[in-house]
Amino acid sequence: MNLLAVVGSPRPNGNTAILVSRIAEGARTGGADVDVVRLGSLVVQECDGCHACWRGRSCTKDDDMRRLYPSIGASDVILFATPVYWYGPTALMKAFIDRFVYFNCPENRPQIRGKRAAVALVLEEEIESTWRPVMDFFDKSLAYLEMTLAGTVVVPGVGKAGEIRQKRDRLDEAFRLGRALVQTA
Ligand SMILES: Cc1cc2nc3c(=O)[nH]c(=O)nc-3n(C[C@H](O)[C@H](O)[C@H](O)COP(=O)(O)O)c2cc1C
Repeated sequence: MNLLAVVGSPRPNGNTAILVSRIAEGARTGGADVDVVRLGSLVVQECDGCHACWRGRSCTKDDDMRRLYPSIGASDVILFATPVYWYGPTALMKAFIDRFVYFNCPENRPQIRGKRAAVALVLEEEIESTWRPVMDFFDKSLAYLEMTLAGTVVVPGVGKAGEIRQKRDRLDEAFRLGRALVQTA
């Protein structure tokens, strides 16, 4: 089982990265190969809807998505992990999802149709109405792409980098999510 774990925070050692490392640990314990990708250290330009990809050509943006598209296609599960920024995902994560337009044509859709996904969110506030719009965004986008949302973990109440280490229960939940993603693969 191949898990592609995508970290959408620009903070290299932030709460999202720590949460993803726990999910990855759980998945590896279950026997998965895990590839952790930090969008903050890559270049993912905005999709401008040129739709070259819909005409059988490669994406016109010469950036890191060129190597991520095959990784996405080869993965069994994709983990989308992002902090909540203004009731949405980070700009890094949004740009990454925007580039899934590539899969929105009959030729490329088979690469992701039926693929399983998981979503991991962190945020400073404690209230559901802050993170729910972000989960709805993933829920609707993944359904549109004919992917399956196989698991989620949300960690509210973490602001400073590393604060998530105090949330032992949530990190244990993240570990279990990683294991469950393997077991249900
Ligand atoms: C630009 C920006 C916008 C943010 N917007 C929100 C928000 O709307 N609600 C919230 O609860 N936290 C918000 N936060 C706090 C982050 O979600 C929180 O600090 C999170 O732990 C950061 O994750 P990281 O350490 O992985 O970068 C925001 C942080 C930044 C930098």
